[in-house]
Amino acid sequence: MLAVGIDVGSLSAEAVVIEDGKMAAYSILPTGADSRQAAKKAFTRALERAGRSPDEVTFTVATGYGRVSVPFADLQVTEITCHARGAFHLNPDTRTVIDIGGQDSKVIRLDGGGTVIDFVMNDKCAAGTGRFLEVMARALETEVEALSDLAAGASKAASISSLCTVFAESEVVSLIGQGVLRKEIARGLLESVAERTAVLVSRVGLEPEVIMTGGVAKNAGVVRALSARLGVPIRVPQEPQIVGALGAALIAWTRAVKKSPQKTRGASPQR
Ligand SMILES: Nc1ncnc2c1ncn2[C@@H]1O[C@H](COP(=O)(O)OP(=O)(O)OP(=O)(O)O)[C@@H](O)[C@H]1O
Ligand SMILES: [Mg+2]
Repeated sequence: MLAVGIDVGSLSAEAVVIEDGKMAAYSILPTGADSRQAAKKAFTRALERAGRSPDEVTFTVATGYGRVSVPFADLQVTEITCHARGAFHLNPDTRTVIDIGGQDSKVIRLDGGGTVIDFVMNDKCAAGTGRFLEVMARALETEVEALSDLAAGASKAASISSLCTVFAESEVVSLIGQGVLRKEIARGLLESVAERTAVLVSRVGLEPEVIMTGGVAKNAGVVRALSARLGVPIRVPQEPQIVGALGAALIAWTRAVKKSPQKTRGASPQR
């Protein structure tokens, strides 16, 4: 029996396939302009990688900003629930989940049973998100994937005082014009994301273990800066970008088991 979780985010779409209670395959694709198309592609790609076909899927759960763009899903579940479920599955000691994606930053607090007890999200502003880092990478004439390495070479961080992405971009351009080193600007930008995230964390209260999910968790410089500010280690899963889709897939698996309990192998999901 198969269950699939799909997370359609503002920048990336992921799908996770669970077979007999275990993750069999996943896919990560850019969402692009057509989120329906991206959802379908992520679904098909993950199933291809699992060597299975869509008609074998018993239950599909969609999550993420674009979850309404998955007409073939059996259920839509919020990102908060899915990230919490995925993170707790990967590590049952998780009490705080920090998810930073393209347009949202969220901090979720869990109890010892994995239930969400509180959460906060950023306001509508892009500052402190992946999109902020992408805009700034462009201003620095580099790729978002290269920001962390660039910043790692800096002995100090340039101060970025603007809170707004648009103003911060002009500030970066002006700092470059003043001859401030690009690596110091990069370090300042990572610090600025860490600072904004630490404020969000303080609003729900910090409790270890802390796990970071979403694409920005792939930015080691942000993770390091945030860990230093919070004063605790931050665990990053092997593939942080699929944690929401994994949570959706686990919820789908539970539903699939209820739907057809007799033909189920691996009824409880395995780590
Ligand atoms: N290899 C990488 N190195 C550094 N940063 C990365 C890498 N891959 C992705 N990112 C960051 O992750 C961001 C996208 O994160 P993610 O895919 O979680 O977003 P999303 O789920 O589509 O967005 P949202 O949840 O806000 O709707 C990018 O903007 C970029 O900053
Ligand atoms: Mg996301």
